[in-house]
Amino acid sequence: MRQHVNPLSRFFQLPLELPAPELLFDDPCRPIHLDIGCARGLCLQELATLRPDRNHLGVEIRRPLVRSAQRDRDRLERLNLHYLFCNANVSLEGWMAALPQDRLQLVSIQFPDPWFKRRHRKRRVLQPSLLLAIAATLQPGRELFLQSDVLAVIEPMVALVELSGCFDRPAEDVRPWRADNPLPVPTERERYVQELGLPAYRVLYQRNQQPLPDPEDLEIAWQRIDNPANDAIPPDG
Ligand SMILES: C[S@@+](CC[C@H](N)C(=O)[O-])C[C@H]1O[C@@H](n2cnc3c(N)ncnc32)[C@H](O)[C@@H]1O
Repeated sequence: MRQHVNPLSRFFQLPLELPAPELLFDDPCRPIHLDIGCARGLCLQELATLRPDRNHLGVEIRRPLVRSAQRDRDRLERLNLHYLFCNANVSLEGWMAALPQDRLQLVSIQFPDPWFKRRHRKRRVLQPSLLLAIAATLQPGRELFLQSDVLAVIEPMVALVELSGCFDRPAEDVRPWRADNPLPVPTERERYVQELGLPAYRVLYQRNQQPLPDPEDLEIAWQRIDNPANDAIPPDG
């Protein structure tokens, strides 16, 4: 069993300037699907074949996985696909902010590392600042897809997204969890979970018209829900 990378360690906190779409894809004007925590990237590789009308970017904090994924991409000459090494919480915000309007159309976070203990909550990939950066970049109707096999992981993610007020679920989607994966290719972790007959908890969100909330208010509201044992946050303020 591999060890998780600690995204809070000093090395992973160094910001990287990620290349613009012009340096990643043969046609940078295609809409982008961004997969955060793509690991070895096999799912995205298949999606890039099935959806040549999109560009696909996988970001991953474990550099050796990115190297292998990118080697495959070069060998297959899949020019609507790219993988980048980075800590999504440190380096994605600036990259997304620099994109042309409505270039980013789908963000997925699939089976993120299970930092479910409260004391490890800052290691989780979906932090308020990353969610707000995603919400600031996606135009109304564009999508954010989340899935996990661990309820204690997905529930705080869902709580955070809902607290932001920036996303709605399609009216026809079953609650609390979507019945199926809206993407046509399962991830590696998803295949493993399916083979074991375990559940996968899935939520699809669409950006709505609401403006972004105040980042500090969102953080405080989220901590209240996710970390009720934290005495540092009084009930009213
Ligand atoms: C459990 S794996 C799931 C991989 C893949 N999405 C799947 O479903 O098979 C979670 C991945 O997220 C990566 N990851 C965790 N924190 C990250 C961060 N802050 N930035 C980028 N990647 C991260 C991990 O290294 C790991 O490869």
